[in-house]
Amino acid sequence: MDIRDAVALVAGGGGGFGGATVRRLHAAGAKVVICDLDEAKGKTVADELGDGAVFVQTDVTDEDSVRSAIDTAAGLGPLRIAVVAHGGRGGPRTLDRESRPAPQASFTKPIDLFLGATYNIDRLAAAAMARTEPLEHGERGVIINTASIAAFDGTIGQAAYAAAKGGITAMTLPLARDLAPVGIRVVTIAPGTFLTPAFGDADPVQLDAYWGAAVPFPKRMGRAEEYAQLAQHIAENVYLNGETIRLDGALRFTPKGGG
Ligand SMILES: NC(=O)c1ccc[n+]([C@@H]2O[C@H](COP(=O)([O-])OP(=O)(O)OC[C@H]3O[C@@H](n4cnc5c(N)ncnc54)[C@H](O)[C@@H]3O)[C@@H](O)[C@H]2O)c1
Repeated sequence: MDIRDAVALVAGGGGGFGGATVRRLHAAGAKVVICDLDEAKGKTVADELGDGAVFVQTDVTDEDSVRSAIDTAAGLGPLRIAVVAHGGRGGPRTLDRESRPAPQASFTKPIDLFLGATYNIDRLAAAAMARTEPLEHGERGVIINTASIAAFDGTIGQAAYAAAKGGITAMTLPLARDLAPVGIRVVTIAPGTFLTPAFGDADPVQLDAYWGAAVPFPKRMGRAEEYAQLAQHIAENVYLNGETIRLDGALRFTPKGGG
């Protein structure tokens, strides 16, 4: 796909992965709709980029809010790229120190936030893409979801998060099969540990040293720009479809995550 003619929607566009992807797609010539719950973060990215970057305050867990962001994107031109990269919290350990069970809501909430909201964006974006004229190869669009290597080797305390991310990985192929007749591809990125605002205010040098130690090579955390680089490649390479790509420097989580 030629990104220069594309409209892209990025959920979590004010965050680490989302912000880097917005900047990269915009630099490649796309018009980008930045969807984020956090107005300050989303507007900062939109203001930095100026023309061709629009912020729409969006709660990805709210169906109407997502619908209105997608309408905005489709109003700018043919929606071709949807990147789902919003963040949020996982759940606790299954039993606490006194062996009391975690509240059931601590499981269902991350499932709704990560898995349910991803499907909601995917289905609504796909409907908007399906209304566009096909490009070369009959392609109409591409959906890029974000899982995690926790989908494969979830750590202590990650039952809900791993289930949500595993769900995103599991639905990648059936979504690609569902959407193939209208020329929409679906690819998922499963990142390892990346230096993004999701890690809070901790010192980046210390974070890199701690989390990077477990990564075989390169011995550091990933950079959001490396996620964005892969997202751009997925958008451009029409033969990538129905697959989850690990982006992790060969990291495999131990039970506690680090090395
Ligand atoms: N950083 C990592 O190491 C890492 C590794 C694997 C997977 N991931 C996944 O990648 C995704 C993005 O992570 P990140 O590191 O860029 O996080 P981030 O915290 O830097 O950015 C997430 C963005 O999502 C926004 N957001 C949160 N809730 C929202 C909602 N309800 N509606 C709309 N926007 C909302 C936040 O305001 C923020 O701007 C997450 O799904 C995360 O689980 C991250």
